[in-house]
Amino acid sequence: MAKFITLEGIEGVGKTSNLNFIQQLLSDAGHDCVVTREPGGTALGESLRSLLLAHSDTQMSADAELMLMFAARAEHLNKVILPALARGQDVLCDRFTEATYAYQGGGRGLDLAKIGQLEHWVQGALRPDLTLILDAPVEVGRARAGRRSTPDRIETEQDAFFERVRAAYQQLAQQQPERICLIDAVPPLEAVQSSIEQSLRKYNILD
Ligand code: TMP
Repeated sequence: MAKFITLEGIEGVGKTSNLNFIQQLLSDAGHDCVVTREPGGTALGESLRSLLLAHSDTQMSADAELMLMFAARAEHLNKVILPALARGQDVLCDRFTEATYAYQGGGRGLDLAKIGQLEHWVQGALRPDLTLILDAPVEVGRARAGRRSTPDRIETEQDAFFERVRAAYQQLAQQQPERICLIDAVPPLEAVQSSIEQSLRKYNILD
């Protein structure tokens, strides 16, 4: 059965290198895999991503931000994710709805029930088979991310925002251990990758 795997975490926790690593593991296990991202993954989704991350709209309301995330997600599900799963391909997605719970719920303080309503509307009962959350203290993420490109609109938030995002991610992992796994992203990359591989086996993704 095709698997839907998502990767999450605050900025600087190593999402990109670990996404490549997971893609390689899936490919070595003989899985055909589509790699994609949110917000984005479709022409409309990438346009919405540009709007969401641009610095031109610093006053964007939290509700508008929330609904744009789900608009991009609806398009992505219909055009990319659901067709790939129906064809028997795994889908490996850089962020999904757990990011909405963490950033718009935890970070912006939006009502989680509102997010739940949109989740139900857009996804029905569909949830990722496994969500891996790379976890590290905000200052560790900042130090690592600081070496890269200019921060986007959301990345320019204060540390307190990212503390709330991190806490929301931790809470999601605690509440849904049957499909959400928190990975300690502080150790060196090889150790993190070993934890990721163990989780993929534990949650029967590599079968
Ligand atoms: P990234 O995928 O390149 O890390 O950047 C996407 C940004 O969008 C990141 O700051 C997290 C944010 N985001 C949300 O706030 N809510 C969401 O639902 C998603 C998918 C991303």
